[in-house]
Amino acid sequence: MNTEDLRIVILTGAGVSAESGVTTFRGAGGLWEGHRIEEVASPEGFSRNPTLVQQFYNLRRAALTAVVPNAAHLALAKLEQALGSDSVTLITQNVDDLHERAGSKYLLHMHGELLKARCLSCDTVHPWSEGLGIDSTCPSCAAVGRLRPHIVWFGEMPLYLDEIEHALVRATHFVSIGTSGRVYPAAGFVNLARQSGAHCIEFNVERSDVSSAFHEHRIGAATAEVTRWVGQILAKPAGSAA
Ligand code: APR
Repeated sequence: MNTEDLRIVILTGAGVSAESGVTTFRGAGGLWEGHRIEEVASPEGFSRNPTLVQQFYNLRRAALTAVVPNAAHLALAKLEQALGSDSVTLITQNVDDLHERAGSKYLLHMHGELLKARCLSCDTVHPWSEGLGIDSTCPSCAAVGRLRPHIVWFGEMPLYLDEIEHALVRATHFVSIGTSGRVYPAAGFVNLARQSGAHCIEFNVERSDVSSAFHEHRIGAATAEVTRWVGQILAKPAGSAA
């Protein structure tokens, strides 16, 4: 297969940013930084305690300044630069900006972005790098206390699903990196890609919940394994990307 015939769809999860020091969601005890996920990642949690939820994301947003992209982010950006965005579709469940900072240009943040805020009154999405509070003012409509983190919470519809489906049904390769396979629809992407004939590779430090759906498993740290895989593809431009 020539490189121009490759259509590689890559899904990343918290594991790709773990070696940069960003905490994964399902660590010890199933808590995210000491909170139940529902408490800080659901519309009900936000309604119950908006101050807590805003502070939680303010800390996560501020923490981004202390982390940098790792070798896995950099390798994926290099792959896109080498093959072009027609051949590489990068989908992330992560809300950090490490793929962008590594140089990835065409990126679908299906679960939203920490560095954006959305107004519940006018629905405008704003770039946002400061703290958000219940007294923050929307720059578009001037509503007060209506801005929320632009994060897709449990029970909400992920973003870019049409574009993602379009890419999955045309994929020659589907690659999942550092995701536990516990959250749908992302956990089901492998099935759609596989049914469409894609070769499916899972990168993780251990088997995920949807591991059996993949043709191939590369067990190990994303920094080492993803870098190795990208090197293999770019070293054999006229060969198989598998
Ligand atoms: N290299 C590769 N994989 C790793 C590494 C690493 N260095 N470190 C951890 N992992 C793997 C873990 O084994 C685990 O399977 O990354 C996965 C992280 O899983 P989760 O914490 O569940 O994160 P993710 O799958 O991205 O969560 C999905 O759940 O809470 C929601 O919306 C949130 O986007 C998130 C979604």
